[in-house]
Amino acid sequence: MKNDQATPKPIRLADYTPPAYRIETVDLRFDLDPATTRVTNTMRVRRNAAEPGDPLILNGEHLDLISVTLDGHELGAGAYRTDDGKLTVPEVPETFELTVVTETHPKDNTALEGLYQSSGNFCTQCEAEGFRRITYFLDRPDVMATYSTTIVADKTDYPVLLSNGNPVDAGELDDGRHWARWEDPFPKPCYLFALVAGDLACHQDAFTTQSGREVTLRIYTEPHNVGRTDHAMASLKKAMRWDEETFGLEYDLDLFQIVSVDDFNMGAMENKGLNVFNSKLVLANPDTATDADFQAIEAVIAHEYFHNWTGNRITCRDWFQLSLKEGLTVFRDQQFSADMGSAPVKRIADARLLRTQQFPEDNGPMAHPVRPDSYIKIDNFYTLTVYEKGAEVIRMMHTLLGADGFRKGMDLYFQRHDGQAVTCDDFAACMADANGRDLTQFKRWYSQAGTPHLKVEEAYDDEANEFYLTVRQHTPATQDQEHKEPVVIPLRMGLIGRDGEPVRVNLSHRETSEHDCVLEITEEEQTVVFEGVPERPVASLLRGFSAPVILERDLDDDTLRFQMKHDTDAFNRWDAGQTLFRRRVIAAMADLDNGLDPKLPEKDAEAYREVLNSETLDDALKAEALTLPSAEAIGEDLETIDPDQLVQARDALVKQLAEALEPDLKRAYGLRANDTEYTLDAAAIGRRRLKNLCLAYLGWLERNEYIQLAIDQINVERNMTDVIAGLRVLSHLDIPERDQELNDFYEKWKNDPLVTDKWLALQATAKRENVIEDVKALMEHPAFNRRNPNRIRSLIGAFAMGNFEGFQRADGEGYRLLADFVIELDPVNPQIASSLVRALIRWRRFDDARQDILKQELQRVMSTASCSENTYEVVSRALG
Ligand code: TRP
Ligand code: ZN
Repeated sequence: MKNDQATPKPIRLADYTPPAYRIETVDLRFDLDPATTRVTNTMRVRRNAAEPGDPLILNGEHLDLISVTLDGHELGAGAYRTDDGKLTVPEVPETFELTVVTETHPKDNTALEGLYQSSGNFCTQCEAEGFRRITYFLDRPDVMATYSTTIVADKTDYPVLLSNGNPVDAGELDDGRHWARWEDPFPKPCYLFALVAGDLACHQDAFTTQSGREVTLRIYTEPHNVGRTDHAMASLKKAMRWDEETFGLEYDLDLFQIVSVDDFNMGAMENKGLNVFNSKLVLANPDTATDADFQAIEAVIAHEYFHNWTGNRITCRDWFQLSLKEGLTVFRDQQFSADMGSAPVKRIADARLLRTQQFPEDNGPMAHPVRPDSYIKIDNFYTLTVYEKGAEVIRMMHTLLGADGFRKGMDLYFQRHDGQAVTCDDFAACMADANGRDLTQFKRWYSQAGTPHLKVEEAYDDEANEFYLTVRQHTPATQDQEHKEPVVIPLRMGLIGRDGEPVRVNLSHRETSEHDCVLEITEEEQTVVFEGVPERPVASLLRGFSAPVILERDLDDDTLRFQMKHDTDAFNRWDAGQTLFRRRVIAAMADLDNGLDPKLPEKDAEAYREVLNSETLDDALKAEALTLPSAEAIGEDLETIDPDQLVQARDALVKQLAEALEPDLKRAYGLRANDTEYTLDAAAIGRRRLKNLCLAYLGWLERNEYIQLAIDQINVERNMTDVIAGLRVLSHLDIPERDQELNDFYEKWKNDPLVTDKWLALQATAKRENVIEDVKALMEHPAFNRRNPNRIRSLIGAFAMGNFEGFQRADGEGYRLLADFVIELDPVNPQIASSLVRALIRWRRFDDARQDILKQELQRVMSTASCSENTYEVVSRALG
């Protein structure tokens, strides 16, 4: 969008109408050439909602139109129009064949949408609306067609030619080119179309489905990377088995392909039978990838695979329903990861993500419901709200209906809607009908933005032996919605006796006597009575983070420390320690205001020490408990954020904790320091996690002894997890060894972009006075590439999103750096530019001086002549 053009118009859910025409079959021919690729598209079209005589209007952008042929007759220039991203054919019969020939320029395509080049190979990205950059089409998910695709390309440069479905034919031409033809038998929306052509190596394997069919599995990479695909392949097979066992869902083609590419805007894409992945989510071995990388690969391989049923076989009617496929598929990949590793650790990680990123989104200018009501660019709504909160909504259904009831709902969903493009309402109706439940009120989770607050008060009657919980819910207004209704909140809970033992839960209104129950909170205020409670218990509420809400309670410190020790629910045990620390940081900020030094009470240190030395907790949970809330997360609790004071208070307390626990940390480190074998089971990952956390705490003490531990750990080079952990300790320090080790690391890995990304991110997230100057220097370093999304995320993204104090520097230099970069990137790659600019939009949360600078920078971005629709939408909401 240019300034001088009209303001972009939002698209509204309320305006949905069925497609005027349907496209039943598509036959595509690609004559691939980096400079100019010709696409010949022949469609069978049928009138649908249109009246006879209504025009056919197809979407198309950045295309050179060569010809339009209707039922074998090429149309003259007067028989069609192209304008404003559309091809209009005013007169068409009820059914007809239309052939459109267009040209595109893949090597100039820096936006990485449509057909583009990466590392010299061709690939495509069509979700959400990229297919219209490949050919003219009805680019909307409720138009489902069967595709056949012929790819013609130079045989030497592009020996491998791939598309969706099955390879059906191939051959050679006289001029050094060759061709391949693919057919996909399953009707699909065009956003699931994919094409890949290049010089690729293949890791092949096979999987036998539960019904005994053999599926060929292929992972394609650049030839030098093919040895790094074992983990991805193993993850794929696990995911295929899991979906059969958990949901009875079997793969439906004889071939499943994954291609790894270096230039990719997001994580990965679920194109039918041909998933395309960001290389960082495919390639791994212990020398180059960290435990977190291995886990992310397993999760994302599963996520994209699971889309084959939840997304592809059943797709979305329109893009407002994005969470239909994304929320459900994230829930499925979360359950899968929980089953493959540690369930409580996975739950803690997901809750942390929600609280540190989705809650702020819900509480800022981009707040939107899980099913948004309007958008300018749908790209801007691939958000934590649609994905992660959307998964929480599915999880709550799972909690309310039970695993069996949820499975019945899923079975009905596939029975009713296979092959269709449907809505979130259709999904909820299946869950309701299969279980005989009314989910009308529950569905407010889809339409209401904002995070509900749950205020809980407790009372105990020692004559009646009754315990009362009074629960009030309130969802604050968001920028897009003033008034909020009460939602259905499944509140999983239990009671703990003074002796630390669980108390049986006897609810007055129903027959239960367990140690754990799920209350259904539906009213603005309600009171629940527990009978036969012999003494005042400690209530353990929102176990397993059973709803995406903010729980507000007045618990004293002793109770929190008690819960840290005795709660049988691993999540709440962890959460008590998190709450205690948040509270301590906020108290420390008040101390700073009063000219006092922050002080960590010895009782707190003792509580964390007990966690560290516990004989019953596993290492991974210990590490989670000792990973204290970030400054950003704590900032959410504050009226106005003063980043300097917040960081000063938090740092002081962390350092005191490290001092208080020093001998324990040293011992815990030593016990785990000499593991030589590298395995990826939950126990081994937990051990490394705890060991490296101990090292990080010891690093706060800045003693030579611990600096040497870090250096030694780097130099034994046991695995990338340990090397990065060692480097991270050094990265914050101002010592010659820091630069030495960082340089050595760079020299060793400079030809490996994925490892170089870690080197960039380490420096961008360092706690150092001059980090902004470091980032600026790195932008000019050969390791950086201002066009590659992974490099951008590792340097600029990591700085803006992962270096709270560096980015929020009081002089505004961090903000200016980001705004400058966004302005430069926006015309090149608007999707990435608009994702970066989000680091500036929560200006209302900060002090006046920062507010002024932030607003000024947002204005500067918006008034730039080339401001894209993507960036315009985010910035205008922020300023509006
Ligand atoms: N559907 C993809 C997923 O969730 C998301 C995705 C990949 C995407 N690439 C994209 C969305 C580009 C928008 C634009 O797995
Ligand atoms: Zn997805």
